Amino acid sequence: MKKILVLNGPNLNLLGTREPAVYGRETLVDVERLCRDEGARLGVEVECRQSNHEGDLVDWIQEAGDKAAGIVINPGAYSHTSIAIHDAIRAIAPLPVAEVHLSNIHAREPFRHVSMVAPVAVGMICGFGPLGYTLALQALAARL
Ligand code: DQA
Repeated sequence: MKKILVLNGPNLNLLGTREPAVYGRETLVDVERLCRDEGARLGVEVECRQSNHEGDLVDWIQEAGDKAAGIVINPGAYSHTSIAIHDAIRAIAPLPVAEVHLSNIHAREPFRHVSMVAPVAVGMICGFGPLGYTLALQALAARL
């Protein structure tokens, strides 16, 4: 069975209690369960990981180049700053990467309007909360 890696970046371990008006009440455990259920429905294995450390995300993206068919990533604040994550995604091309944000980053502070990941992602979904992860999984599964 093909595998899709779902990666979450910094502070997303706090989902449920972190700024619920922005990010909702669902926890990371809830979001990861949603992803695994959607994977089962789509016939793909879903493996979920979260880290607050940029280097972990870079390592996991590199690893996915060998063992996964695609990546769904919410890089959190690293979306707006990380050339290292941008480069890691370029390095594993043509492995498809879908970028997800729970909030609509374009409707927030100007510093969130730019994503370093978007130019190297096959697409980006933002503003739909946890549903965005399932939409991203569907989009990747459709390409497999
Ligand atoms: C986020 C948006 C980012 O700007 C922010 O730093 C996050 C979460 C989102 O899912 O909406 O940590 O990626």
